[in-house]
Amino acid sequence: MYQLDSDLKLRERASTAFPAGVYGHQASASVSPKHPQFFSRAEGGRLWDTEGNEYIDFMCGYGTNLLGYRHPRVDEAAAAQQAVIDCATGPSPLMLELAETFNNQVAHADWTMFAKNGTDATTICVMTARAQTGRNTIVVAEGAYHGAAPWCTPGPSGVAPADRANQLTYHYNDVDSLRTAVELAGADLAAIIVSPFKHDVFVDQEWPTDDFARAARQLCDDKDAALILDDVRCAFRFSLGSTWETIGVLPDLCAMSKSVANGYSLAVITGNDRFREGASQIYTTGSFWFASVSFAASLATIAAIEEEGALEVMKNSGDRLRRGLDERASAHGFTLRQSGPSQMPLVLFEDDDLWQKNNFFVAEAAQRGVYLHPWHNMFICAAHTQEVIDEALQRTEGAFAALKKQFG
Ligand SMILES: Cc1ncc(COP(=O)(O)O)c(C=O)c1O
Repeated sequence: MYQLDSDLKLRERASTAFPAGVYGHQASASVSPKHPQFFSRAEGGRLWDTEGNEYIDFMCGYGTNLLGYRHPRVDEAAAAQQAVIDCATGPSPLMLELAETFNNQVAHADWTMFAKNGTDATTICVMTARAQTGRNTIVVAEGAYHGAAPWCTPGPSGVAPADRANQLTYHYNDVDSLRTAVELAGADLAAIIVSPFKHDVFVDQEWPTDDFARAARQLCDDKDAALILDDVRCAFRFSLGSTWETIGVLPDLCAMSKSVANGYSLAVITGNDRFREGASQIYTTGSFWFASVSFAASLATIAAIEEEGALEVMKNSGDRLRRGLDERASAHGFTLRQSGPSQMPLVLFEDDDLWQKNNFFVAEAAQRGVYLHPWHNMFICAAHTQEVIDEALQRTEGAFAALKKQFG
């Protein structure tokens, strides 16, 4: 069983060095004391904590790791670029090469822009939709996460009511609620924003129904509004185009980030010609947005995904993990509720409304070298080969046994 003494000391220091410990998605309150908060090394699909304990990591940097941490081809491309020019007065021509690559490989894309974070990308999509249509209202799914800017951050603190004005909500996969929100928006509808699938925290994930995705597209066409796909979390895990290409529905604007440069900081906004004028009118930039190391890393990531058949590896490994967890859970008398695509699985226990079994199980798994999350979707990367999945499943045996002792 792993000891986390040095991590606990770091947490203690962090509680005063930062306003209240590590913040955001890795906030102290959401990471159990049996999960390390700090790490000293990452490679492939594995992490090492500051004590030297090794974990098979199913959070993958919350999605930023797609090919494996420290992927040789990506890191070599990034290092070669770093040696000549990164953040400078202007970009290298790689920026153009990468934009043309996205314009070619993403079906709806007539143009591309780059930024750094997912929040930049979703915000640029919203601004573009408003600039193009001359309208204000954005229709957003209840509970969906689109970033941490005042218009979309989940918490109310520090947000003025005006920051949240001009938004109406619908329920994911509920066509009636979507139609109602669009009707309420009336002549002011600028955009509907959707996630590729419902990947909200704490609740079962849902792949979009055909009716829902087509209704969203049709409503935007009827109202001359933008369909924005927030592909920040999913991009490149299902397709090298936008994720809704897999269901045959094209957005007008798409926000991608996380894995598009396999861990290097990059966000991508793609749009069609209907929204070119709007995108050209908004003022948006960032001091680091033209840095070329991330462009080089993204080009290498795209090439490696294709060459390594990464999409298939992630799907097969995700399926294997799902089956293996189900088998082990039922052998110990538990039933799992696994939802979402297996490449980005959410694993919950039946009869566990307060996530007590899940919190206990993932803490026990962490103690045995498997890093899982109790209520956020997880991520499979291409370095999670079948052998790595089997090793992880083997390590969870003891966690299931401990769960049975506690709750069986
Ligand atoms: C669907 C989605 N949109 C937007 C964001 C915001 O991205 P970032 O944290 O890079 O700003 C995230 C981040 O988790 C996300 O999952």
